[in-house]
Amino acid sequence: MKGIILSGGTATRLFPLTATTSKQLLPIYDRQMIFYPLNMLIKAGVKNILMIVAPEHSGQYLNLLGSIFKKFGINIYFEVQKVPRGLADAFILGESFIGKSDVTMLLGDNIFEDDISKAIRNFKSGGMIFAKEVSDPERFGIVEFDAKGKALSIEEKPVKPKSNFCVTGAYIYDNRVIEIAKNMQPSERGEIEITDINNAFLQMDELAVKKIEGEWLDAGTFDSLLEAGNIVKNKELYKNFDPIIDAAIAEFNAELKILAKKRLS
Ligand code: DAU
Repeated sequence: MKGIILSGGTATRLFPLTATTSKQLLPIYDRQMIFYPLNMLIKAGVKNILMIVAPEHSGQYLNLLGSIFKKFGINIYFEVQKVPRGLADAFILGESFIGKSDVTMLLGDNIFEDDISKAIRNFKSGGMIFAKEVSDPERFGIVEFDAKGKALSIEEKPVKPKSNFCVTGAYIYDNRVIEIAKNMQPSERGEIEITDINNAFLQMDELAVKKIEGEWLDAGTFDSLLEAGNIVKNKELYKNFDPIIDAAIAEFNAELKILAKKRLS
């Protein structure tokens, strides 16, 4: 299993915060947002992770993540996405990185309380996505279920949503996803849509939709950013990180302190 974290985009709703850094590098309580999707992949045992980032932030990502996981046997690669062409672009930009493997793609701004690392670890074939009940379904990809709970359709930002279950930013696919993505046409909003990939697996009857428990946040507005920080602090979710993440951050901090001292002396 390979991992991709999609961490580009312009995040105009968070200006001026995102005039100086990437949304996914903004803090959620005691660490950058990007550590949440990294945690999920590392917990799942994924050793090769591709970060897809916007050109203007590539240096910041390299600074933070370029070397801190190396000694734990985890390789972080970087790819620049010049234009935000859509979520499915991850599989085109990531084609040579993915090679012949399966792939888990996580959105860099999604925070899950539920632990989906087991699902990543045990993945066999087809596609797997994770649904969460929301009060504002018009904003998301929405899954329609039949009476037995089987997924029937997925619609991107429907005007009349067929359910309140939205597709969250975690997607696991077998290697066919590359060819599916390469053959897709952009939608009306000019993006190659992850929803079209999900519908392709659904039509082959090979898409599993798992409902998740607990909090799920996509920290894309001032309110959701603040709420995410408060939830992480109040529910002590910052204590749930894989020990590798905590150790890597501690070593990074120690190195920074040594460098800071050298500069002062
Ligand atoms: O958050 C879950 C939702 O994410 C799903 O329910 C939808 O089906 C899916 O289409 C997506 O919805 P959005 O339209 O809200 O996604 P957004 O454009 O906000 O992009 C999600 C993240 O991915 C965002 O942090 C920026 C990053 N991104 C986005 C695009 C389009 C990239 O890095 N590159 C891109 O090309």
